[in-house]
Amino acid sequence: MLRLVVNGQSREVTADPETPLLYVLRNDLGLTGTKFGCGLGQCGACTVLVDGQPVRSCMLPVQAVAGQAVTTIEGLGSPERPHPLQAALIEEQAVQCGYCTPGIVMAAKAILDRTPRPTEAQLKQALNEVLCRCGTHDRVVRAVLRAAATMGGR
Ligand code: FES
Ligand code: FES
Repeated sequence: MLRLVVNGQSREVTADPETPLLYVLRNDLGLTGTKFGCGLGQCGACTVLVDGQPVRSCMLPVQAVAGQAVTTIEGLGSPERPHPLQAALIEEQAVQCGYCTPGIVMAAKAILDRTPRPTEAQLKQALNEVLCRCGTHDRVVRAVLRAAATMGGR
């Protein structure tokens, strides 16, 4: 039995400790917002935050995050109360198929937590490793800059 703290809630899971965190989130905890893309740590679709740091959950054994704070897209906002990042992505129409979007949002959250008012160049570099097959990156960058302004650089 492993105890996790996910989106502020204590959760117990019986998965094998070597199971990737992504599978536990999706299959054991029903948090299907986090996506399986490549399963190889290359695309970023599975990005979640662990103690505020972005991690690729497809590559991380669940036992590695026991007792640490895991934040998934479900912990950020809701359709009724979207996080400023989510609202900005909607306003900029920065989503096409949406498969990469949860990972991009979580990666962007980590960037803004670290650098509240990034330059466009900083954002492009930081988001470069979260892949989008639909080619939304220009709109994503605009959306994250908009969110940073909305959040007042906090
Ligand atoms: S699914 Fe984890 S990096 Fe692609
Ligand atoms: S919106 Fe389709 S992969 Fe990014």
